[in-house]
Amino acid sequence: MDATDAAGLLTDVLVTEEQIHARLAEMAAEIASDYADAGPGELLLVGVLKGAVMVMADLSRALPFSVQMDWMAISSYGSGTRSSGVVRILKDLEVDLSGRHVLIVEDIVDTGLTLSWLVSNLESRGPASVRVLTLLRKPEAATLDVDVRYVGFDIPDAFVVGYGLDFAQEYRNLRCVGTLDPAAVTG
Ligand code: IMP
Repeated sequence: MDATDAAGLLTDVLVTEEQIHARLAEMAAEIASDYADAGPGELLLVGVLKGAVMVMADLSRALPFSVQMDWMAISSYGSGTRSSGVVRILKDLEVDLSGRHVLIVEDIVDTGLTLSWLVSNLESRGPASVRVLTLLRKPEAATLDVDVRYVGFDIPDAFVVGYGLDFAQEYRNLRCVGTLDPAAVTG
C-alpha cells in the first residue's frame, strides 16, 4: 500500500492530509488559548488506542508548549460495526488525574457511546476538568449529550479509514481520510 497515494483504495477522499494539518493547527491554537492559565503538567492529553495515535502525534506537536500524554485501550462490545456503550478497559492510564485538566483525544465519534462511557469514567477520578477533542464526527454524534469541545470535521455517515482509522486493522497509515472501495477489501 502506498500510504501517500490513496488511489485505488478509496472511493472518496473526505479529508486530505493538508486539510487535516491545517485544522489541527487551528485547534491547537484554540487549545493553547483555552489552557493558557494551566500550570506546567496540569494539561494531560489522553489518547484512545489505536485510532487516536496520528491525531495525538500531530496535534501535540502543533501545541506551543510541553504537554504530557497518556493512553488508554478500551474495547467496546457491539453487534457488527455498532458499539453498545458496554466498555472494557484493556489498558488503563498510568497517571493520576486528580486536579489535572484532561483533554481526551479521539479519532472519530460515531454513536458517542464509547466516548460517553470514557468521559464518565475519567470524571470519576477527580480531575479539574475533562474535555474532548475529535478529528472526525459523524451526524449521529452531533445530536448527543456528550459535549465534544473541539471538532475537526463533521463528516457524512459512512465508514471511513485512514489517519489512524482502520478496517480490520488495515489502512491506519493512509495520510488522508476516505471511504474504502469495497473492491479493495474483497480483493
Ligand atoms: P462510537 O461509540 O459509536 O462513537 O464508536 C467509536 C469507535 O468506533 C471509534 O473510536 C472507532 O474505533 C470506531 N469507528 C466508528 N466509525 C468508524 C469508521 O467510520 N471507521 C473506522 N472506525 C470507526
